[in-house]
Amino acid sequence: MGSSQDEAKRIVGQRVASWIENGMVLGLGTGSTAARAIEALGARIASGEITNVCGVATSFAAEQLARRYGIRLTSLDEVSEIDLAFDGADEVDPAMDLIKGRGAAQTREKIVESQARRFVVLVDESKLVDNLGSRMPLPVEVVPMSVRPVMDAIRSLGAVPEIRMGQKKDGPVVSDQGLWIVDATFQEPFDSAHVNNVLLHTPGVLDHGLFLGLATDLLVGRADGNVTHQTR
Ligand code: A5P
Repeated sequence: MGSSQDEAKRIVGQRVASWIENGMVLGLGTGSTAARAIEALGARIASGEITNVCGVATSFAAEQLARRYGIRLTSLDEVSEIDLAFDGADEVDPAMDLIKGRGAAQTREKIVESQARRFVVLVDESKLVDNLGSRMPLPVEVVPMSVRPVMDAIRSLGAVPEIRMGQKKDGPVVSDQGLWIVDATFQEPFDSAHVNNVLLHTPGVLDHGLFLGLATDLLVGRADGNVTHQTR
């Protein structure tokens, strides 16, 4: 990753952290960009500026980071709403719809972010696309015994399915839910509402990485060091 991309992640992380106020319930995203926001919030907590926020983590990794930076953890059983959730994305289209799940955390991310009054997406310019699926596959989380029929359903949508394999583990990547990830690569632009509907009605699919209509705010870290802010 280039240093300007690192810098873009840092500045969007700082920007969203500057919006956090005492008393807020947060949704803590997963991935390298959300990590920059958690660090920036940690710096505000360490300086005594922020004293009472809590967060719902979207993954084991986010939970570990929150602990490291002194962010009190809570759960959806204990709060009725999230004031502000922040997270990265793998692709963002002009309608602010997203593909997420490179880190296999999309199911918990969607659960938490759908409970947020504000869901702020943090990206650098490389994540902006005209059509979802043009650069990244769509992750689909599946019950292992359903993998063959789910892969058939993905093929029927015009995509090429591939079980995501571990890097430092033999066999498939296992999600925080103990399930597998099938990555669906589309060769052409697709109807995201249709794909969403078909996948959610395919037995064995827990959820997938299309986030439609969920983001309220988009912060883009630009190569010139500026941040642009778009709202839905
Ligand atoms: C986690 O599964 C993902 O949804 C991440 O939020 C997404 O991949 C963005 O990650 P980066 O900020 O590391 O690019």
